[in-house]
Order: sequence, then C-alpha cells, then structure tokens
Amino acid sequence: MLVGAIPAWLSGSKASAYAVTHPSPKASKATKTGVKSILIPVKVGSVQLALSKLAVGNSVSASFVDTTGANKPILVHRKSAKEVVAYSAICTHSGCTVGAGAKTFVCPCHGSTYDSTTGAVINGPAPKSLAPFPVVVQSGALFIKG
Ligand code: FES
Repeated sequence: MLVGAIPAWLSGSKASAYAVTHPSPKASKATKTGVKSILIPVKVGSVQLALSKLAVGNSVSASFVDTTGANKPILVHRKSAKEVVAYSAICTHSGCTVGAGAKTFVCPCHGSTYDSTTGAVINGPAPKSLAPFPVVVQSGALFIKG
C-alpha cells in the first residue's frame, strides 16, 4: 500500500512553522522557572463558581482539582468588589475540613477559628494559618492559578 508522500512545502523548515502551538487565552505567562502556570476552575459541587454568586463580605466552601488530579477543598472569601481570596479548608490542627463563614472560618472538630480575610488563626488549637491559594477572576469566573 502506498502512503501519500509529505508535500515538499511541509517537509522543509516551513513544516516546523506549522507545528507551532499557540497558547490558549487562559494560558498564563511563563514563570521564572520556565514552567507555565495554568488556571484551574474553582467549583462548588460540579458548577464553576462565578464571581456574581459570591457577595462582598461572604464566603463559600468550594474545591478545585490540582495538577496531580487531587481534589482540594478550599474556602473562598470575597473581600471587596474586585478582591477574592482562597485558603485551604484543611485545618492546621489535625486536618478536619473547616467550614465557611462570613467573618470567620470554623473547624467543627475542636473549634479553631480563622479570619476569613487572611486565613490567620483567631482561636486555637490550630497552630498556624490556613494555606493560601492564588485566585484569578477571568470572564466573571473564579480560577486557582496552578
Ligand atoms: S482539627 Fe481543626 S481544631 Fe482540631
């Protein structure tokens, strides 16, 4: 069986020009290490979280799937019209899932409370702040910058 030959216009140096891939609109600039960051949708259940669904001063329990495929529970808080913050929902005391609240996040296991605007511990026994995640709002939807 004869397989079609590659046309001459594709076989030379021009062929590589056609192989160049262009970044999608959601691709971010390369970091200092040369690794491109990606935008990962923030979801509440199976629905991507829209900025319009989170009123200023409110918080919500959400999640995202990290680059290893692990589901990460997070707490998202809208500080102002344009500023949104997100923190790991994993308590720094013993790993329970912390719940969302407008001004504080509360751990149901031993009662630690965290500031919803900073993730800092207000009352222990949690030993340290909740881990922050960088949030990006694009086209009205929330993403974690991975
Ligand atoms: S696991 Fe959260 S306070 Fe103990």
